[in-house]
Amino acid sequence: MAERLTWCEVSREALQDNLAEFRRLVGPRCRLAPVVKANAYGHGLEIAARVFAEAGADALCVHDLWEAGRVRAAGLSLPVVVLGPLFPEQAAEAVALGGIEPTVQDAALVEALERAGEASRAPIGVFLKFESGTNRQGLRLPESLDLARRVASGRWVRLLGLSMHFADIEDTTDHTFARGQMARFLEAVEALRREGLDLPIRSAGNSAATILWPEAHLDMVRVGIGAYGMWPSTETFVAAALTHRERVALRPALTWKTRVAQVKDVPAGEFVGYGRTYRTTHPTRIAVLPVGYYDGYDRGVSNMAYVLVRGRRAQVRGRVCMNLIMVDVTDVPGVGPGDEVVLLGPDGEEAITSERFAQWAGTINYEVTTRIAESVPRVLVG
Ligand SMILES: Cc1ncc(COP(=O)(O)O)c(C=O)c1O
Repeated sequence: MAERLTWCEVSREALQDNLAEFRRLVGPRCRLAPVVKANAYGHGLEIAARVFAEAGADALCVHDLWEAGRVRAAGLSLPVVVLGPLFPEQAAEAVALGGIEPTVQDAALVEALERAGEASRAPIGVFLKFESGTNRQGLRLPESLDLARRVASGRWVRLLGLSMHFADIEDTTDHTFARGQMARFLEAVEALRREGLDLPIRSAGNSAATILWPEAHLDMVRVGIGAYGMWPSTETFVAAALTHRERVALRPALTWKTRVAQVKDVPAGEFVGYGRTYRTTHPTRIAVLPVGYYDGYDRGVSNMAYVLVRGRRAQVRGRVCMNLIMVDVTDVPGVGPGDEVVLLGPDGEEAITSERFAQWAGTINYEVTTRIAESVPRVLVG
């Protein structure tokens, strides 16, 4: 099959170093469970899952059973926590995959898992998610108690633990709300334990909480963005710099590239691209690049972003098209067809960070990398 004209290089070393950094933070006994959902935040699920498994991850977190199946199809046998919903009709498949740890939200699912476990005589561990203030997937205390009792009364379904998710820990340096969430969560753990319910794994930490609060490490952390070398937010970076004596070092792992397809000279006063949104003010050399919004290169950055050609900035001129963009290489000498171009990531002394791209696109770094289309090949380097 022909090669695609745009691809992402994923640094093995960066992923390994980031995982080692989180291990340094949480210590050897905390279950370190990197999150590989959303195609590993755009880095390629199979690639990241393999590197993390080899680098000593204790478990992996995914969103749904389809992603869990991809982890197993990649030949990895470590536990896989399913953070998102699972439907009762998926119970048999979850049990059959082996080592899948769903987050259960209702009795129908628990019963389906119990039946599936019994049918294949295989136990299945589950998490309960506590509603601590995010109002997304969690259950309030009475419902948590009810469901935990149901799980405990089963033979094949086993209660692995209780989890929670922070609402705004990365959005602010004022962590009053997050502290309240954490306190409510720990109260819920105690309430369940008073009922005699065994909860081996308490899990609260995402990347920001894991970086900022040792007390949020508990028994398992679920680190996503930080494992890929990106900071959850500027606020988290600032708060970490203020609290940590030793700098927390994260290395971005992804470089998105393409190649120059064509170079042309455009006279002054001509338009570039759809909608004629850009008009040259002087004779301009334009490079045409075979990447567009189909590949996840946000149309919102039209006339705003730049790419790196031969380590130099080249401004996007005109609108981002479905499969092409045009960039200004007037001041970059010697550009020709076939030259490699960096759309995201470092090149020489320059780097386009996902944070900078996010500013152009009016979004967050999480969305920048997860939006790179799955049809763009990911290549592990290093
Ligand atoms: C339930 C849950 N846990 C952990 C994470 C990881 O968060 P982060 O990428 O901020 O580390 C996510 C990400 O969205 C999540 O939904």
